[in-house]
Amino acid sequence: VSYTMQPLRLSERSSPAWLERALSDLPTILLDHAHCEKKAASTAMNLMFRYQDRPELMAPLSRLAREELEHFELVLSVLESRGLEFLALEPGPYAAQLHKVVRRNEPARLIDTLLVCAIIEGRSCERMRLLSEHLQDEELAGLYRRLVASEARHHQEFVALALRYGGEEAVMTRLRELMDHEAELLGRPAELVRLHT
Ligand SMILES: [Fe+2]
Ligand SMILES: [Fe+2]
Repeated sequence: VSYTMQPLRLSERSSPAWLERALSDLPTILLDHAHCEKKAASTAMNLMFRYQDRPELMAPLSRLAREELEHFELVLSVLESRGLEFLALEPGPYAAQLHKVVRRNEPARLIDTLLVCAIIEGRSCERMRLLSEHLQDEELAGLYRRLVASEARHHQEFVALALRYGGEEAVMTRLRELMDHEAELLGRPAELVRLHT
């Protein structure tokens, strides 16, 4: 499968209100972003342990985990260069709420998990692109420009992996359902400033 840059499959664009909140609290966005990269690596590794009977998943997930850890280190260095400490941060409800609707039987569980990961990557990509376009701070804008392409590729890779475990029509229908759910989650009032709220 070749991962050409197709348009992201997302139901809704981010609201201007999100962008405004994010730009008004960049230290929190950066810290949350670091945690998101760490979490993405951990999710990929968890899948490697859960699906040891799926050897075809090992190399793609391992590569993904490494890339996410590289992103994590990149964001850590930006935090450090700005005198911001890496601290624990309460995660927003977004990812947990998305994972909650994953079906429990296999292979539906695997398909849904991969699609939820695809949606999170796609949303990260969309938001990083917004940040890169609107940040006055050239260093941060540059950071986000560099990450947009990787996150878009991750989005495509997760969709491609999900397609291995079900028929194209069923998988794409499920993706649309999950995206509608995601759009509904984003429409809820948000209390925290996070990359995904
Ligand atoms: Fe990443
Ligand atoms: Fe990613």
